Amino acid sequence: MTDVLVVGSGGREHALGWKIAQSKKVGKVFYAPGNGGTSNNISIPADDIENLAKFASEKNCLAVVGPEVPLSIGIVDEFTKKGLRIFGPTKKALQLESSKVWAKNFMKRNKILTAQFEIFDDAKKAKEYAKSVNFPLVVKADGLAAGKGVIVCSDSNEAASAIDKMLVEKSFGTAGSKIILEERINGIEASYIALADGAVAIPMATSQDHKRIYDNDKGPNTGGMGAYSPTPVIGDSMAEQIQKNVIDKTVQSMKNEGIPFKGFLYAGIMLKDNKPYVLEFNARMGDPECQPIMMRMESDLYDYIIASMEGTLSKMPPISWKKQSAVCVVLASKGYPDSYPKNEEILGLDTQDKDTFVFHAGTIRNNYKVLTSGGRVLGVTALGDTLQSAISNAYSRVEKISWPAKYYRKDIGKKGLMS
Ligand code: AMP
Ligand code: GLY
Repeated sequence: MTDVLVVGSGGREHALGWKIAQSKKVGKVFYAPGNGGTSNNISIPADDIENLAKFASEKNCLAVVGPEVPLSIGIVDEFTKKGLRIFGPTKKALQLESSKVWAKNFMKRNKILTAQFEIFDDAKKAKEYAKSVNFPLVVKADGLAAGKGVIVCSDSNEAASAIDKMLVEKSFGTAGSKIILEERINGIEASYIALADGAVAIPMATSQDHKRIYDNDKGPNTGGMGAYSPTPVIGDSMAEQIQKNVIDKTVQSMKNEGIPFKGFLYAGIMLKDNKPYVLEFNARMGDPECQPIMMRMESDLYDYIIASMEGTLSKMPPISWKKQSAVCVVLASKGYPDSYPKNEEILGLDTQDKDTFVFHAGTIRNNYKVLTSGGRVLGVTALGDTLQSAISNAYSRVEKISWPAKYYRKDIGKKGLMS
């Protein structure tokens, strides 16, 4: 039996740990730092590589990393150097997510379909270019900006202020010292996540996120307000196309370039004219996509994690999935993605319904109480025989949970019913 250390504190990490704990090969699952819904929490921040390594070494754990920040500062490289077992991409492979400039150039040289783009580090030149192109235009900061470094501009004035915000005012720090100006692709967005072992990749289930804060995809972008799986937006033949032309090509090209990619590879896809454009790569599981995907996964996740680390995924059978749909509705605190109240007591967490699971994110435990501590607080996730019944099951559980600033979208999954 192996003990596992899940690094991170969000809903994604709770779902990964929940699924890993179901394996007969796994003993204890620790979380660093975890949240109010996880047990065996270790109070080490997710970016404190030295102390995480010390803990993993003392307890002889396998480390599974959820968020991008520890990956981007080289947690996998450091653990590997120390002879510790860890699942995920190296710092160099993480460039697919941590530098949009690197990722766009990678896609260009390897002929992976993506929006037309130009790269700038000079505000004047960027503004001149913006005057010469069609609108809408998307302005993106190069580095990690927690989902906030992308601005869709409808005219050259908006573009000029987005350019200034990044290159002159340095609102995103060094993440914005290079920017990308790219065409806006008007299509349907979906998430395609695969698991890679450095040489090959196998698909996880398809899913669709809901990134905007308000119903009908209005308002600012967030980390994700809800997700469901599978999505009819990616049918079988589109899934094959994405697997072959995006995922396999990426994994093969990374290998050819001497940067083998191991771990979850997430392609943010915009579907237009029946073609998949890559908007971005993430080098990790999606949050909240992970929650419904884990609810549907029948195979033992631990076996696949080991195969990814050992480079033996090609010998594994395809992952098996429940036929049912799963829906995750994110409950946030009103004000997110900007400022929001904290330390409010959450009620209604003790009732358990069949086939639903409440994954925690921004919560802490205080004696017997569970309090809010972050913007995205809970991910209420439910299975159902149809997408409609999964939606109903999730929302009936949502209604039983309360705290003063509770906020959620009422239309999670609706996009899947309409297509
Ligand atoms: P990114 O972090 O690059 O995925 O951008 C965040 C969000 O902005 C995406 O999930 C899309 O909703 C939107 N977006 C980014 N790039 C484009 C694009 N070229 N065309 C349309 N929407 C985009
Ligand atoms: N849900 C989008 C992300 O994980 O980046």
